Amino acid sequence: MPENTLTITDNRTNKTYTVPVENGTIRAMDLRQIRTGSDDFGLMTYDPAFMNTASCKSAITYIDGDKGILRYRGYPIEVLAEHCTFLEVAYLLLFGELPTEAELTNWKYEITHHTMLHESTKTFMQGFRYDAHPMAMFVSTVAALSGIYPEARQVLDPANRLLQIKRLIGKVPTIAAMSYRHSEGLPYVYPDNECTYPENFMQMLWKKVEPKYVAHPVISRALDILFILHADHEQNCGTNAMRSVSSSQADPYLSTAAAAAALAGPLHGGANEEVLKMLDEIGSKDKVWDYVKRVKEGHGKLMGFGHRIYKNYDPRAKIIKWSAEQVFQVTGRNPKLDIALELERIALEDEYFIKRKLYPNVDFYSGIMYQAMGFRPEMFTVLFAIPRTAGWLAQWQELITDPEQKIARPRQVYTGHGTRPFVPIEKRTAVTV
Ligand SMILES: CC(C)(COP(=O)(O)OP(=O)(O)OC[C@H]1O[C@@H](n2cnc3c(N)ncnc32)[C@H](O)[C@@H]1OP(=O)(O)O)[C@@H](O)C(=O)NCCC(=O)NCCS
Repeated sequence: MPENTLTITDNRTNKTYTVPVENGTIRAMDLRQIRTGSDDFGLMTYDPAFMNTASCKSAITYIDGDKGILRYRGYPIEVLAEHCTFLEVAYLLLFGELPTEAELTNWKYEITHHTMLHESTKTFMQGFRYDAHPMAMFVSTVAALSGIYPEARQVLDPANRLLQIKRLIGKVPTIAAMSYRHSEGLPYVYPDNECTYPENFMQMLWKKVEPKYVAHPVISRALDILFILHADHEQNCGTNAMRSVSSSQADPYLSTAAAAAALAGPLHGGANEEVLKMLDEIGSKDKVWDYVKRVKEGHGKLMGFGHRIYKNYDPRAKIIKWSAEQVFQVTGRNPKLDIALELERIALEDEYFIKRKLYPNVDFYSGIMYQAMGFRPEMFTVLFAIPRTAGWLAQWQELITDPEQKIARPRQVYTGHGTRPFVPIEKRTAVTV
């Protein structure tokens, strides 16, 4: 018997099957042959929320949750955050290698020259209510670009794909900044081609009447680092939406909008906002112990703690903690930091959190940092969506060029009625809804 196989005995029929094991997985389709009779469809797996199902092979991002490891294309996140810019990392995610000097210069030029939005996009955005959530504006506007670039539908053409990738990476900060300005009642600011990617974003956000907004280098570097840390995270909810929607060959604007919509949920991109609310609720350092006690008694959770994959310190949280210190030297210390540090100290020494392997995650310090930079909590998820666009697009490219992939179409276990006789309207009973 070959070593890399799995033998299954079906106790319903006493038949035995041998299926190959590859990369620690068996192919779900290999189970289809396991049937009780000719009218049996064949065995399927049932896996709500994809808890134990690999939906693709991917060479982009590697995570070892037990060891607290995150790597893009083989490079540890710590190394990339220290030595690279976000645009270099975006290039790495998309093309598999870090760019040479010449490649990077060209890449920066290309992205910078795709930051402008068609003027009609501005009119579209102005149609939103004054208090529209920036994430609602972001998702809708990214989808609306599909109407401006109809050629984007040619998703099987590599040159066309590359053009849309550059457009999306170039334009998402512009859309994000315009969403923010709209919610502040401020006029939109156009991109400035003399700026770096984060500097341009900052000037589109915060420029007032000065002829040229000059970004603080520490803040713009901190923002760039945050972009690097959020650029990809393998098959999470938003990325799965990206892959699922684009598997129908929908254009990348529609697929990116779908991915951003998934990100908008509070269980995904919204946790950093919750951390701030929690720190406000705690109020001061001396109340932390009581708060932790209440959490242990089952009253709520420590927001920004725990992760489905990381059962060790989230490597991104360590970098953010360091980066936050740099930001506070410029902006002044966010008083919430002291509460957060105390919370972390107490929780990490506590048996409850140690036993459950609950460590600070990426959201624990990012919210405090964003707030110190001047962002309102509603913008936090939009800030996440900007860099994640690069990751989504890398995953999209990988999907489109993967010969094993097809339109995503899960199976179901049907639990409804069998065939029923039709009931005329006068004989129907009301259903309580
Ligand atoms: C991220 C999260 C959803 C992961 O959930 P999960 O992998 O399904 O883990 P579980 O919900 O099964 O938690 C396992 C145990 O730890 C506890 N736990 C998990 N996160 C906790 C937290 N933040 N505070 C207190 N207890 C927590 C659970 O109550 C459970 O305890 P039990 O075994 O006594 O029932 C969860 O940790 C959480 O809600 N964290 C807070 C929200 C957050 O920061 N999200 C951002 C993620 S990047």
